[in-house]
Amino acid sequence: MNRPTRRTRGDISRAPDHVLITGSTSGLGRALAERYAAPERTLSLAGRDETRLAAVASVCRDRGAKVDVQKVDVTDAEAMERWVVERDQALPIDILIANAGIGGSAVVPSSSGESGPLARQILGINTMGVINTVTPVLPRMTERGAGHIVMVGSIQSAIGLPQSPVYCASKAAVQIYADALRRLLADRGVRVTSVLPGFVDTPMSRSLDMPRPLVWSAERAADRVMADVAKGARQSVFPWPIRLLVGLQRYAPVMVVDAVLRQSTRLGWANKDDAG
Ligand SMILES: NC(=O)c1ccc[n+]([C@@H]2O[C@H](COP(=O)([O-])OP(=O)(O)OC[C@H]3O[C@@H](n4cnc5c(N)ncnc54)[C@H](OP(=O)(O)O)[C@@H]3O)[C@@H](O)[C@H]2O)c1
Repeated sequence: MNRPTRRTRGDISRAPDHVLITGSTSGLGRALAERYAAPERTLSLAGRDETRLAAVASVCRDRGAKVDVQKVDVTDAEAMERWVVERDQALPIDILIANAGIGGSAVVPSSSGESGPLARQILGINTMGVINTVTPVLPRMTERGAGHIVMVGSIQSAIGLPQSPVYCASKAAVQIYADALRRLLADRGVRVTSVLPGFVDTPMSRSLDMPRPLVWSAERAADRVMADVAKGARQSVFPWPIRLLVGLQRYAPVMVVDAVLRQSTRLGWANKDDAG
């Protein structure tokens, strides 16, 4: 494989040299890392679990990629700044994927809602963790007029599910941040894509004690995200029937949406019992 020439302003026509991914030790992030792994490509992979980091790095190296791993918590803003800048200095990051997050049973509160500590943990990882990943690279990408920022949100950013109020809010914040940043950076050669998946078959969604309609495998979701990123899509939203339903509810009267979603708790999508 010939080494491609340097990326020009806003150019998405060729394969990336350097992809950085947070939350690459599991689920969607791991599937993305393994699929982006290719000869001549550098992957910078982060997570907290060193054993799983080493395992994904090994698979990616077997596929020919140069891999740098970092054990880092996305809530540690200073550590994230150091790592992202260091990786960008080593080789300009073409695609930065802020994917790390918590969800599943870990974010389902009791029927009285999230406790303060749980709410702060969810927002700290899912919202501030994304911002801590993205902000260090912004001045660097805008200065060179190239780069692609990908933020993994959720289809739940568009709908307030009673099963996970703060999780929905944490993802809605990511969605709005991505939209605003895309508009801000549009003339600076930097692209922004937000990813809004429905259910993906990962440890996160498997932890839920509830049905997962239209669930996709992590590999299928990763393929879709990569295809959307490669064509410079503003959003990567899947699967389409969930996208359609979520889109339609925006036009429905709030009292109708409230009534439907309240019924969802009776269909097995329950909150954790107060005593549980
Ligand atoms: N699965 C779904 O149905 C679904 C649906 C919509 C959106 N999403 C979103 O997709 C993204 C990936 O989720 P997934 O399903 O692949 O979940 P997963 O299998 O549980 O993986 C989550 C990843 O995030 C990392 N992570 C969590 N907290 C972290 C922290 N404080 N600092 C650094 N890394 C942290 C984990 O790393 P360690 O284990 O090494 O700590 C792990 O690699 C999340 O943003 C999630 O909200 C998932």
